[in-house]
Amino acid sequence: MRTADAVSPGNYPWVMTTALITGSTAGIGAAFARRLAADGHNLVLVARDTKRLREQATELHDRHGIEAEVLTADLAEDAGIESVTARLADRKNPVDLLVNNAGFGNKGHFLDVPMADELRMLKVHCEAVLRLTAAAADAMRERGRGGVVNVASVAAFVPRGTYGASKAWVVQFTQGAARDLAGSGVRLMALAPGFVRTEFHERAGMGTDNIPGWMWLDADKLVSAALADLARGKTLSVPDPRYKVLTGLAKVAPRGLLGGITSKTGRKYGPQ
Ligand SMILES: NC(=O)c1ccc[n+]([C@@H]2O[C@H](COP(=O)([O-])OP(=O)(O)OC[C@H]3O[C@@H](n4cnc5c(N)ncnc54)[C@H](OP(=O)(O)O)[C@@H]3O)[C@@H](O)[C@H]2O)c1
Repeated sequence: MRTADAVSPGNYPWVMTTALITGSTAGIGAAFARRLAADGHNLVLVARDTKRLREQATELHDRHGIEAEVLTADLAEDAGIESVTARLADRKNPVDLLVNNAGFGNKGHFLDVPMADELRMLKVHCEAVLRLTAAAADAMRERGRGGVVNVASVAAFVPRGTYGASKAWVVQFTQGAARDLAGSGVRLMALAPGFVRTEFHERAGMGTDNIPGWMWLDADKLVSAALADLARGKTLSVPDPRYKVLTGLAKVAPRGLLGGITSKTGRKYGPQ
């Protein structure tokens, strides 16, 4: 296994040995796990499917020589959130980087989606992110170093239903908490990806045939850009010039106009 020196400033803004990633088994979370393991970090892998978590842990250990813990947790349930906050609060086995990545989309417009599914999404996207960030940041502040990446979406910047609203909360919460913790050594950053080829759309039962090729991002490149932004001290990362332009336009365009455009593209493309 590599030493902590190999992952200290230069590659990362603080000496770092262990990262905890929620939703590590697929898509963007799996890309974080691959990159962080390749950089020599030990991992705590969190998702609901234990078999898949164990296979991922074995693969990353065998390939990179890192230690990978498996933590099965459903972040839509209090018990699942509590088991992850307990791990983050464990002062004897500190976590240096938390990646709050687990998430999903519900297919359908407001009032078409059952209220129970809307509330599950808020639990995973907002309540779990709040409680995990608090548990991690509290322990990190005591040590005077650490980082939290909260995965939002470019949907946070346009009127895109309850999914976009939950991701807007992630951006606002993360940037506000980053401000509150400025000077503590704890960095918080919201990550706002555009479309990424993962299991997300299939799980939500959304077709992707209509999404133009230029709108798709590569998960590994996205993670590289995100970690570079974290090292630079950014509190919001929008990787890729295409989406920087789109989110910049979204900030200056009238909300009414955006609502009109996104209600058309939203019907066509669904959330991202
Ligand atoms: N793909 C995109 O185009 C895109 C764009 C912008 C933002 N995002 C955001 O990026 C994040 C990752 O999405 P992805 O595209 O990588 O999705 P994905 O490929 O579907 O992976 C989702 C991961 O989250 C886990 N997960 C789902 N529900 C969970 C729960 N209740 N408790 C614990 N773990 C759970 C899944 O594992 P289990 O099923 O085993 O739990 C899986 O590891 C999400 O927050 C999403 O909103 C995605």
